[in-house]
Amino acid sequence: MDSLILRKTTREDIPSIIAIEQASFVSPWNVHTFLTALHDRRSCNITARYNDRIVGYCFSLGMKNMVHLLNLAVHPDFRRQGVARRLLDEIFSFARSNRKSYVFLEVRKSNDIAKRLYTSAGFTHVSTWQRYYSDTGEDASIMVRRLERTDG
Ligand SMILES: CC(C)(COP(=O)(O)OP(=O)(O)OC[C@H]1O[C@@H](n2cnc3c(N)ncnc32)[C@H](O)[C@@H]1OP(=O)(O)O)[C@@H](O)C(=O)NCCC(=O)NCCS
Repeated sequence: MDSLILRKTTREDIPSIIAIEQASFVSPWNVHTFLTALHDRRSCNITARYNDRIVGYCFSLGMKNMVHLLNLAVHPDFRRQGVARRLLDEIFSFARSNRKSYVFLEVRKSNDIAKRLYTSAGFTHVSTWQRYYSDTGEDASIMVRRLERTDG
């Protein structure tokens, strides 16, 4: 997807994002959660567009020495074309330019596709948070990607 355009998420993007969110998750974020994340000054939120259509997004939050990846999804019709990897690269750039040492996230233990994505992007499993997801009682895998000081 050479003509994929990545840019900062705005309030106007939220309806399209919610449509993808609802097609992607058992317990989707609601509009309030998205707006709270969008307005947090520590956040880095990126939207991917193809032919002027929103096809994916990620939300992240800069913390002390790390970035917390909060949400990431790609429209079902545009998956497996490298969109998520491009979004992750933007988060890594944000983290490096803000001198953060790590990016971390939680992922459902059963979400093998997402775990493959994160593993392929350099994350490793560091911990299990038992029964972390209140909707299903599922465990979370905590995955961390360390950012090398010299590579960006
Ligand atoms: C997980 C998700 C974001 C991946 O998005 P994507 O744009 O399709 O991912 P990419 O095309 O960038 O894939 C990058 C790598 O991830 C892995 N991967 C992605 N989809 C895969 C699949 N269906 N099967 C196996 N591996 C897969 C592969 O290693 C892939 O690299 P490759 O294509 O060179 O083999 C997408 O499937 C999605 O939105 N899922 C629902 C929401 C979700 O689970 N979000 C993550 C919550 S923690």
